[in-house]
Amino acid sequence: MTDIGNAVGIIGGTGLTTLSGLKINDTRNVETPWGAPSSELTHGLLDGQPVVFLSRHGNPHQIPPHQVNYRANIKALYDAGVRTVIGVNAVGGIHPDMGPARVVIPDQIIDYTWGRAGTFFEGDLRQVTHIDFTWPYDQAARDVLIQAARTHDVPFAGFGVYGATQGPRLETAAEIRRMERDGCDLVGMTGMPEAALAAELGIRYVCLGLVVNWAAGKSDHIITMEEIDAAIDQGMSGVRRILEVSMAS
Ligand code: HPA
Repeated sequence: MTDIGNAVGIIGGTGLTTLSGLKINDTRNVETPWGAPSSELTHGLLDGQPVVFLSRHGNPHQIPPHQVNYRANIKALYDAGVRTVIGVNAVGGIHPDMGPARVVIPDQIIDYTWGRAGTFFEGDLRQVTHIDFTWPYDQAARDVLIQAARTHDVPFAGFGVYGATQGPRLETAAEIRRMERDGCDLVGMTGMPEAALAAELGIRYVCLGLVVNWAAGKSDHIITMEEIDAAIDQGMSGVRRILEVSMAS
């Protein structure tokens, strides 16, 4: 995912508060017109590629999904020169291929979030702007992640519709059945408005999901933090491997 002349942005989610393997050059606390991002920006090299890492939920992890300042996060990365962002997201699996510890590189989004500050285009505007969002994820970046997963034998699903829910509670079984009827394959709380904000600034954006539980009603038990932590332990090494390998591509 070499981005000539530009650092690649990595937004770490649950289970990825810091990026081991990153040779850190600098850590910066920045401000944007939309406020402060969730964490400091960590500048460094990952497999030789300049990277700027940001922890979506703060470091330590304390900002819930509906209170993340997505605008500040995306603008801070943009101001740091980032034009390609990999958003790492913990998700619940709905599709039968998307069980715990599976990596997913989705291709579509359905947005069920509400009340989040989801656009840069408001306030004192000279004109109204509607961005095209037909393909929310950058296809070339998806290909790089898929190839990295394939060559390093990381179990993955290279498709899927990401249903973005408001949280912070998990869903009911009926909500998941409805999302499945809508066409969702995975469910998470942080994919939106992050992807749309990146698109508004012309940033190439891709989601690297890690399934940490079967979505509500998709297994014979309720969802526990122990199950989620176990899937993170099992699957995050694959996510890290994909990140490192894709930097060299
Ligand atoms: N639902 C919503 N968000 C999630 C889930 C889930 O089951 N698992 C991880 N993030």
